[in-house]
Parts: sequence; C-alpha cells; structure tokens
Amino acid sequence: ARKIIIDTDPGQDDAFAILLALASPELEVLGVTAVAGNVPLHFTERNARIICELAGKTDTRVYAGCDRPMKRKLVTAEYVHGQTGLNGPQLADPVMALQPEHAVDFLIETLRREPAHTVTLCPLGPLTNIATAFEKAPDIVGRVGQIVLMGGAYFEVGNVTPTAEFNIYVDPEAAEIVFRSGIPLVVMPLDVTHKALTTRARVERFRALGTEVGRVCAEWLEFFERYDMEKYGSDGGPLHDPTVIAYLLQPGLFKGRHINVEIETRSELTLGMTVADWWGVTGRSANALFVGSVDADGFFALLTERIGRL
Ligand code: BDR
Ligand code: CA
Repeated sequence: ARKIIIDTDPGQDDAFAILLALASPELEVLGVTAVAGNVPLHFTERNARIICELAGKTDTRVYAGCDRPMKRKLVTAEYVHGQTGLNGPQLADPVMALQPEHAVDFLIETLRREPAHTVTLCPLGPLTNIATAFEKAPDIVGRVGQIVLMGGAYFEVGNVTPTAEFNIYVDPEAAEIVFRSGIPLVVMPLDVTHKALTTRARVERFRALGTEVGRVCAEWLEFFERYDMEKYGSDGGPLHDPTVIAYLLQPGLFKGRHINVEIETRSELTLGMTVADWWGVTGRSANALFVGSVDADGFFALLTERIGRL
C-alpha cells in the first residue's frame, strides 16, 4: 500500500477525505497530523480523533501540530464549518488518545525513517505543519515522495478574499515554502473542487448506505453545504478535501496542467493568491500539476462506495 500522512484541519470536508483514506486498502495512513485552520487546534485534533473512531480505525495515530500560522494571526472559518468544525450531527467525545509527540516531530522522524520518496503528504488545511517541519529539518525535503494538497484557485479565484483560497490565505508563508520546495506537487484548487458539488441525490446516497457513517456523512453535508449554496446559488456545496485522496486512488478522474505556481505573500490586496501561470507566459519552470477538472460522478461514486465499507 502507498504510505501517506494526512495533514488536516477538520472540517466536514476533511472528514470525508480521512474516511476515504481509512476505507481504502491501497493506502496506508502512517498518521494524521492536525493543524489550526478551519477552527483552532484543540478542535481540529479532537475532530481528527472523532473521525478515526467513526471509521472504526482507533489504532490510527493522531498528532497535534501548530496552533497558529508561521507569521500571522490565525484566521478561522466557523461561518462555514460551525463552532466545532464538525457541526451537523451529534458526535460523542473521542475516547482514543492523542499521540504525545508534536506533529512536526512526527513528520520529521517519519520522513527520516521511511525509505526516501516512499511517503506522500496529503495537506488538507493551512500548510503550517509541513513548512515548519521543512524549516526545522531541511534534510527531509528531498525525502518526500509527493505532495498532493487541496488549496489555491485560479479561474475560480478566491473563497475567503476575492483572490485567495482559505488554506493558502491562512498561512501564505508556509505555502510559499511548500510551493518552492522542489517536491513534486499536485494541487487541487477551487477550480476542481467547485466542480465536485454535493447535489441532493449525492447526499441521499450517503444516507441510503444505511450505516452510522453514512448517516453522519449525510448530516455533515447538509450542514456544510448550506453556506456555499446560499453564497453561489448552487445545488450543493463543493466537497474540497476528498479530491486529494481520490486523486491517489483514481488519478484518471482528474485533468490538469504542469505549470508554475507562485504564492503572493506581500500584497495586502491579493495576499495568499496562487499565481498560476496557466498559459505559460512567465517562462518559470513548472512546480505543480494544477488540476482543473474532475469527473464529478466518478468522484462521488468512489467516495460513496468506499465510505460504504466503513
Ligand atoms: C478549504 O478550506 C477549508 O474550509 C476546507 O476544509 C478546505 O480545506 C477550502 O477552501
Ligand atoms: Ca480542510
């Protein structure tokens, strides 16, 4: 199985990504590292444990990481995800323990221990934990196999400001470190996630699984999508983060371009923008596969089938 580390700020859509990974035998989840983002760290680490328990995978190792961005004040998104980050269904407190180690140390030790280029990092939130690990232990950068992340936007521009997507906006300095790391990157921007909308029928398919996990998933979607439905006047909300895991399982569902992507860290107006050279006008070399489209039916079929196994 392919070894992955999920770095996350759950978040209902993060929860779908974690469930998809834990349900998939092609992937071995070495650990789940929580970061501050959608809600503060004490919620995201707790939510990560709730999700692993819901999946029945209580042996998954969950680590708490950075509680604020590298250089800035934390910006959160309770207006989307609710006060806990997982609002919607009633969920019991987690029983499984948090690992004692800091997520950054876990990342460093794991990348040093595992054979070079065998670990894939899957960031689903602000890139603080990953960039902090790279700064603290530059020797690990060359050992990462690949990074597949959710963040950024180009044609769809921003969701938190007119030009910036939330994960990049919250910690643009961290994003810059990751985008300049030289590691092969696959980026799932809003351009793709806004094509993965949760229609009524798609939500009902989770409920129709007839399982506890299926019911919780349907209720999460109903809570989470209401914000974007009002905002965009769409049939459902975009389900961002599981696109990362779906890419690892079925890359053929996605189409993108190898392009140069730089992060704006200085402008007040466009802070956190992913400046994506889609048309190759700069001559700067490509650092990312920037994904632009997804077979949404195939994506939801995969998600529902796998989550149905839990
Ligand atoms: C991203 O921001 C968060 O609100 C979601 O969990 C997703 O990772 C979308 O912009
Ligand atoms: Ca997220």
